[in-house]
Amino acid sequence: MTTTVRTRVAIIGAGPAGLMLSHLLAAAGIESVVIDQRTRDDIESTIRAGILEQGTVELLDAIGPASRARTVGHRHDGIELRFEGEGHRIDFAESVGRAVWLYPQHEVLKDLIAARLAAGQDLRFGVTADGVDDGDRPRVHAHDADGVALEIEADFVVGSDGSRSVARAAVSGARNGSFREYPFAWFGILCEAPPSSEELIYSNSPDGFALVSQRSATVQRMYFQCDPDSDTAAFSEEQLWDELQKRVPGTTLKQGPIFQRDVLRFRSFVAHDLRRGRIALVGDAAHTVPPTGAKGMNLAIADVRLLASALKALLLDGDERLLDAYPETASRRIWKAQHFSWWMTSMLHAAPDATDFDRRRQLGELRSVVESEHGRAYLAEAYCGWPLDA
Ligand code: PHB
Repeated sequence: MTTTVRTRVAIIGAGPAGLMLSHLLAAAGIESVVIDQRTRDDIESTIRAGILEQGTVELLDAIGPASRARTVGHRHDGIELRFEGEGHRIDFAESVGRAVWLYPQHEVLKDLIAARLAAGQDLRFGVTADGVDDGDRPRVHAHDADGVALEIEADFVVGSDGSRSVARAAVSGARNGSFREYPFAWFGILCEAPPSSEELIYSNSPDGFALVSQRSATVQRMYFQCDPDSDTAAFSEEQLWDELQKRVPGTTLKQGPIFQRDVLRFRSFVAHDLRRGRIALVGDAAHTVPPTGAKGMNLAIADVRLLASALKALLLDGDERLLDAYPETASRRIWKAQHFSWWMTSMLHAAPDATDFDRRRQLGELRSVVESEHGRAYLAEAYCGWPLDA
């Protein structure tokens, strides 16, 4: 037995991109169905990154109840770049008059899910997409946790189903995308401790990179560069603090019990095709960036903002021009963000095969950023995010 559901837009994946898209469509009176293979609890508790660009926060504000980023989250007006044992502040307010907000992604997801459900919208957890058929009425083939088949027939299908996207096969076929692997990863921890610094510290050291981030007054998030095959269980708490501390020379980290550990592998990827017929890709289904530039979720939101306008024009006015332009328009920002994420990564990490020349050149690069008004401004502009309308 197969249940068939008809809607205007079928959205695969209830991450930030899919949920935000369904909100923007609902605001324009366009109905959608969102499915996700995970449970609501899984989605709301998975630890992800924490930095929102100013434009992302402004879009959350427009949605209404979701503006908790400003009230519960914290505005950050700068970051510290640390190398050779010295900190250098990049002052966002002074350089570009913009800011970012520290507000964890799973909190954004809780807000979006609550708002969607409160509005009585169709959001289904535990439903796995198996494939997508293109056509004038594209279809998503799916099944629920009990194995019951579900088909969603729509005017348009959006793949916001993450880096292991099912929708991508329907858009790109065997053509995959451009990608780059990195010879290192991040070891992430959450600990119970007060913040070690007011702002985030991105630290380059001979032992590798570390990021001192935050979650709240009592919980901190930190990462250190590690081998991609590192085993999270192989380190004692004391060893983890040693690894972190030696990568942040010149600052004394405030330590406390570590209650969560994970290894984040790095990849840069952009799918060759972002749209085919009546199917389009957004967010991690379309691209992934290494986390050093804090761009992942923000880029997903930027895609969705473009695609929402394109779908409104298509579905309300029968005008396909914005949709035709979507791959090209989205790609421009995607590749700027790819470049920034790659640049921050390569400038701050120690490559396993780095020579003495590479190491000294890297310090020259860091100095040319922090000692130049223009260098600082480029970093600040990219970190806070390019305007969403561009
Ligand atoms: C985080 O807090 O998880 C975080 C912050 C900044 C980054 C990456 C991750 O660049």
